[in-house]
Amino acid sequence: MIKVCNAIDLAEKLLESLKEVDSAAFPEHLRTCNSIYEKYAGNPDMFVLLYDDARLIGYMCNFPISKTLGDKMISGEDLSDTDMVDGKIDEYLPNNTYSLYLSTAAILPQYQGQGLANLLMGGFYEKILELQTRNVFFDRIIAAAATDGGKKICAKMGMQKTRELPGGYDLYTIIGREQIYDIAEKFINRVR
Ligand SMILES: CC(C)(COP(=O)(O)OP(=O)(O)OC[C@H]1O[C@@H](n2cnc3c(N)ncnc32)[C@H](O)[C@@H]1OP(=O)(O)O)[C@@H](O)C(=O)NCCC(=O)NCCS
Repeated sequence: MIKVCNAIDLAEKLLESLKEVDSAAFPEHLRTCNSIYEKYAGNPDMFVLLYDDARLIGYMCNFPISKTLGDKMISGEDLSDTDMVDGKIDEYLPNNTYSLYLSTAAILPQYQGQGLANLLMGGFYEKILELQTRNVFFDRIIAAAATDGGKKICAKMGMQKTRELPGGYDLYTIIGREQIYDIAEKFINRVR
């Protein structure tokens, strides 16, 4: 049975499964899960996971970045996923507003093309709404999409293409707290 859930236990076993999905879904130069995992492993809210029974078949990775990094990204600096770190991030703190960086979406090739990316996108927005109930807020979502599939997903999630980045990447954003929760709720209602 296919199901989507959020990672609670960021154990070593999960990293091995994430690496398997990464290796199958991405060419080597686009595989970032290892370095991102090492830097962010303190934050249990950063992975949306897709399982077929006990097997990890896909994931979406997102994490908070500092306002300064978000500003740099939007204003035109050439930053990659692994630059999105200025210190180790721990868990979200209540009564704070964050910039959220959507880093990766990947599904094992044999499971692609069946609409399963919608489950990851829905899981991502469910997480945003769940964090809101814990008084953790976002006022920007930022993504740099490298592939046609990534660009399609960003657009489907209601993100706006903001500019082109070197290396064929496109920068997508949702700016504004109200817009984020409005888009999240509409997305969830649409796929329910
Ligand atoms: C991107 C990815 C996660 C999408 O998962 P998927 O199972 O193929 O997607 P779905 O079947 O759920 O389709 C979701 C939408 O994306 C579109 N899509 C998926 N891959 C696409 C591609 N390579 N080019 C263009 N559109 C694509 C689908 O047509 C669909 O759009 P629609 O609903 O308007 O018809 C998956 O293809 C993947 O892992 N690709 C390799 C890694 C990658 O490129 N990740 C994104 C960059 S971070």
